[in-house]
Amino acid sequence: MLVRCWAEQSRRVVARIAATPDSGVHALPFLHRALLLPLLSAASAALRLSRLLSSSSSLYCPRHALPVPVVSVGNLTWGGNGKTPMVDFLARSFHNISVSPLLLTRGYSGGDESRMLRRRLSDTSAIIGVGANRAAVAASILHKYQIGVAILDDGMQHRRLLRDCDIVMVNALTPWGNTHLIPRGPMREPLTAITRAHIVVIHHAHLVSEAQLKTITSTIKDNGATCPVFFSKLVPSHIFEVNQPLQRLPLHVLHGMIVLCVSAIGCPDAFVRSVKEIGPLKTERLDFSDHHFFSAHDVQLIQDTLKKLVYQHKNDAVVLVTEKDYDRDPDALRMLDAKVWVLSSCLQIIPLEEQGDDEFMRKVREIISASRHAKLQRARA
Ligand SMILES: *[C@@H]1O[C@H](CO)[C@@H](O)[C@H](O)[C@H]1NC(C)=O
Ligand SMILES: *[C@@H]1O[C@H](CO)[C@@H](O)[C@H](O)[C@H]1NC(C)=O
Repeated sequence: MLVRCWAEQSRRVVARIAATPDSGVHALPFLHRALLLPLLSAASAALRLSRLLSSSSSLYCPRHALPVPVVSVGNLTWGGNGKTPMVDFLARSFHNISVSPLLLTRGYSGGDESRMLRRRLSDTSAIIGVGANRAAVAASILHKYQIGVAILDDGMQHRRLLRDCDIVMVNALTPWGNTHLIPRGPMREPLTAITRAHIVVIHHAHLVSEAQLKTITSTIKDNGATCPVFFSKLVPSHIFEVNQPLQRLPLHVLHGMIVLCVSAIGCPDAFVRSVKEIGPLKTERLDFSDHHFFSAHDVQLIQDTLKKLVYQHKNDAVVLVTEKDYDRDPDALRMLDAKVWVLSSCLQIIPLEEQGDDEFMRKVREIISASRHAKLQRARA
């Protein structure tokens, strides 16, 4: 119990430092500044060195090719950049044009992402393969099923598998944090890694100003990327009750309700903002760090907060979580002595400058065929 609290505390501190630009470091608490910062900086430098070594050694490592086109969805920073919703979107789009997708995911952090994808895509032809060695997982599935495309979740860092189309997701709300590498900052790779992308998608784009979007786009171009940039958002689609995941409730069930938003995700602001847009009577929030498992203590805290809200407002109140929280640990949520609902959302490409879902998929398919064509040419030569 104590250990879990301590871990949660330190995650929060590290996340705070990662979101603080160098110019704001002096405002951090003294202990964090004096002790933690040098430690994290040293660790980031060590990571940079090991990346350098591994990228030069990976030049000599054999890279695996799959017999089907490979689309990878990656991130440069941790958490909340819409990677899983993009995988879901791609899977559904390919399914819609009768191309059966194979989703390859590492299944980290208890596998909440893979559980969510499995449930959401249960009405499609998508097959989900979980495992760190994605080439081996793919091989075992490809000889059993008729697969038309492989979608790699978190492929940016997984360079051993050859891919035809690299999609990189960027969170518009915190595009690069303080621009330092993990753990001093949120960057998993230096920004110049973005030149490997075939398409960059700026997620949560509707939640920031046009000027901010321009800044992000020019940072991408300044770091050498020449690829197309798309913009996306999460659009709430429906609600379900924790005990009845297959029964869809319309969004307007929230009207006139007090909603306590509870989440342990990378980007709780976006969640709370989209709930507010649905138009409940009032929203309150309890944020936990990304991938956090709700403890008995948390359950008590959520329950007490809800009781207080009901008492204050003399109104019906509901706990609302994201689908990711639900899939991480549905049983913890069922322990709550309260009405608990789950908000389900879909990724959409924002129609902007004649872009949109169709244009995006056209681009993906164009990149795949160019890559396949080039491979064929090389094989013939
Ligand atoms: C980005 O990568 C980190 C691993 O460092 C992972 O935990 C996180 O879930 C990824 N982000 C998203 C949105 O999937
Ligand atoms: C897939 O097709 C369905 C039914 O036509 C449509 O409602 C949905 O928006 C499509 N999804 C994607 C991601 O293209």
